[in-house]
Amino acid sequence: MPWSNRKSALIAAAAALLIANAGPAPADAPPEIDPLSRECIGCHDGAAGPDVRVNLRNNASNKTMHVHSFDGEHPIGMIYQSYVAKQGYKPISPQERNMIMVNGAVGCLTCHDPLNPAKGHLIKSDKNSALCITCHDK
Ligand code: HEC
Ligand code: HEC
Ligand code: HEC
Repeated sequence: MPWSNRKSALIAAAAALLIANAGPAPADAPPEIDPLSRECIGCHDGAAGPDVRVNLRNNASNKTMHVHSFDGEHPIGMIYQSYVAKQGYKPISPQERNMIMVNGAVGCLTCHDPLNPAKGHLIKSDKNSALCITCHDK
């Protein structure tokens, strides 16, 4: 995929962020791949871009509590407020304006900003797990 096509796809994804503030889906509904994440996954299939396995979750009552390691494949689909309402997750500060959730759900754009040229295209540095502890208590 030429860089110019890739870039316009990313910009289209960024423009689609305008839909990101619709109301949250109900807690513990079956997880879905939101349309922006779908766009990322469409390329990250191992052919057009590096492969990413998708791990869909949304059940705050049956969550994994501790963060030990990260292999680049974080679950998506969680309605974040329902996790905050239980234990182990913090409310997101209003300063985290780059942290996009689609209808309240964690997706690729929650952690990645494709327009950030830095390694990993993260929404913010993960130095000392800064990105992780925006959400995880520990
Ligand atoms: C048009 C195809 C395409 C789309 C759409 C796309 N990517 Fe990529 N992505 C690539 C390719 C190809 C690479 C590897 C080359 C590179 O790093 O530029 C890549 C690399 C990456 C990397 C690794 C960069 C690094 O520093 O190792 C991340 C992270 C990433 N993409 C995230 C995303 C996210 C999140 C989305 C959705 C918003 C997305 N991509 C959408 C094609 C795409
Ligand atoms: C909870 C945060 C988070 C979510 C959600 C997330 N990622 Fe990542 N991702 C990361 C971090 C952190 C890295 C490591 C970045 C670095 O330092 O290179 C990473 C690495 C990557 C890479 C680089 C290659 C690799 O496997 O290491 C790609 C590609 C990628 N993510 C794509 C995606 C896509 C596509 C989605 C949505 C299905 C997604 N990510 C969801 C945090 C996340
Ligand atoms: C937007 C908030 C958010 C951010 C940022 C975030 N996480 Fe998570 N993470 C979650 C939620 C919510 C879950 C619970 C998923 C479940 O088990 O239902 C989770 C689950 C996990 C799990 C369990 C995965 C499994 O397969 O059981 C690990 C490990 C993890 N996160 C590591 C990280 C790391 C490392 C980072 C930083 C790179 C990070 N997370 C950033 C919200 C976040």
